[in-house]
Amino acid sequence: MTGKVCVFGAFNVDVVARLSRFPRPGESMIAASSLMGAGGKGANQALAAARAGARVHYIGKVGTDSFAEFAKHHLDTSEINVCTLFHSQDKPTGNALIYVSEENGENMIGVDPGANLTVTEQEIESCLPVIKSSDLLLIQMENNPDAIVRLLQHAHDSNVYVILNPAPFQKIPDEALALADLLTPNSTEAELLTGIEVNDLDSAAQAARVLHNKGINNVLITLGLKGALLSTPSGRTHIPAYPAHPVDTTGAGDAFNGSLAACLSQGEKLEDAALFASAYASVSVERVGAAQAMPTRQEAMERMRQHASLAAA
Ligand code: RIB
Ligand code: NA
Repeated sequence: MTGKVCVFGAFNVDVVARLSRFPRPGESMIAASSLMGAGGKGANQALAAARAGARVHYIGKVGTDSFAEFAKHHLDTSEINVCTLFHSQDKPTGNALIYVSEENGENMIGVDPGANLTVTEQEIESCLPVIKSSDLLLIQMENNPDAIVRLLQHAHDSNVYVILNPAPFQKIPDEALALADLLTPNSTEAELLTGIEVNDLDSAAQAARVLHNKGINNVLITLGLKGALLSTPSGRTHIPAYPAHPVDTTGAGDAFNGSLAACLSQGEKLEDAALFASAYASVSVERVGAAQAMPTRQEAMERMRQHASLAAA
């Protein structure tokens, strides 16, 4: 393991309005502030992995509009090492309209994935050498499912470790899910994948069992303030959440998955990687925006140290 991560996934431009509370249907509200920033689960996770210390190759697809220029500028000036950006001639660059409530930092998101849903077989084929030369492939489900399934197959055949973050939920065959080495749903996605309502460690353990029966060996279910449950053939472990003062939780899952991938690509044990990812995500929710909120490795380590010294006091 040499710390080389390939992230395939969506790029979106996020247009965010911060409001004192969520509006009611039919209501217009004056926002406290607004911002336009880089987002999309793939690009967010790629940046998190890079800031957490991995060498990252990001693969995504945008349109030919002004948001595509925005994407290129963001990626070129970021810590991501290499980018492969495909262009759709007829679909727009993905974009997300986001409300963040200042009450608790929670969000509501409407996404148009646009070009992200048009990845062709040929484009996937052209990326296979890059994937083969990586230690780890990280994918989400904000793209067309056929592309995701092909990537899972290829990485599996090439013995490249795959993390599949099944967000947002889309139906793909169980045999395809089972090609991933590690599946990282949040509680909602775990429920959609298994039919079990997940709201605590016990129900997460039940959902993990169902996923193991589908052939998925390693499952890490994130539970927000309750941390995460890691379930592997060697047993179950509770990964605690780090206390945080949430300002904007957009991209918290991406922070978790990207930093997790960075640690695993450097040969860290799953449990240690998950603990670091938990600390990393807790720092990200204290900042506005998605991509722009991703912390450095040092900032997440600092959170872990602070917490350890508080616990010891
Ligand atoms: O996971 C957060 C991301 O989801 C946002 O950046 C937004 O683009 C949506 O796709
Ligand atoms: Na954030």
